[in-house]
Amino acid sequence: MGRSDEEEAEEVRVSIPQEPAWRALRRAQATRARAARETLPEGKLPTSDAARRFWSRRTWSELAAVPAVSQVVLALVREGAGLEPLGAYAAIAADEVRHAALSRALAERLGGYDEDVPEGLDFAPRSLAAPSDVPVAVWALANGCFSETVSLALIRARHAATRQPVVRAALAETLKDEALHVRVAWHFAGEVLPNLSKTARVDLGGYGAELAEMIRRTFGTLGLPKATERRERALRDDTAAAGLGALPAAQENALVTAALEDVAGRLRRLGVRVR
Ligand SMILES: [Fe+2]
Ligand SMILES: [Fe+2]
Repeated sequence: MGRSDEEEAEEVRVSIPQEPAWRALRRAQATRARAARETLPEGKLPTSDAARRFWSRRTWSELAAVPAVSQVVLALVREGAGLEPLGAYAAIAADEVRHAALSRALAERLGGYDEDVPEGLDFAPRSLAAPSDVPVAVWALANGCFSETVSLALIRARHAATRQPVVRAALAETLKDEALHVRVAWHFAGEVLPNLSKTARVDLGGYGAELAEMIRRTFGTLGLPKATERRERALRDDTAAAGLGALPAAQENALVTAALEDVAGRLRRLGVRVR
């Protein structure tokens, strides 16, 4: 028996990229880029050892996003994706460079940027830049669905709690970009994930669980070696007490946990079960 028109139409809807939605996202990115802030505003900042170290960590995190997003760009080209998603991810890579620059400038003004990542922390921009033949779905899941979504939840809450004008400006700038990154990521996930084979979706779910653990350690302070955890929690608590852009560690961890649950729920609706 031949397939009905509805069945054929459904298949076409699934396989044709959502061009109008991509165009709207690219327009939003262009508008955002025109209003983007490249440097921190003038203004007095206190020196704070906790805050300069906290913002050094934020810099490493933003720096790691640059190769991670670039891997999405490369995988998109390898897999023959259209220009719209390619443009969207290339623009995100440029945003992440700006976030790293703003975070580093803030660390400098708070007392000095730390170049070296201490033992026990998982920030690894250089290893993320190694050549990769990992499929785009995997890179997009790691970067977009997980990192961007958790990052947005944290930055939104830090922005709401921070009054210091220079720090608040850096958070506001990042927040506006991340909100758009999250939209791009989930739009792309919605196009790609439901079309993967069952096996690929099961594999992706397993990988998602590993990613979630890594994110608890890097965005949060859960699951770190004990001494490292104590130090990293104190650093957030002290930065929060000084009003310089972090929330208390317990609050940040609760946000990370809630955001990861949100990610798992959204992925489940796209056919990927994180376990
Ligand atoms: Fe960022
Ligand atoms: Fe981002």
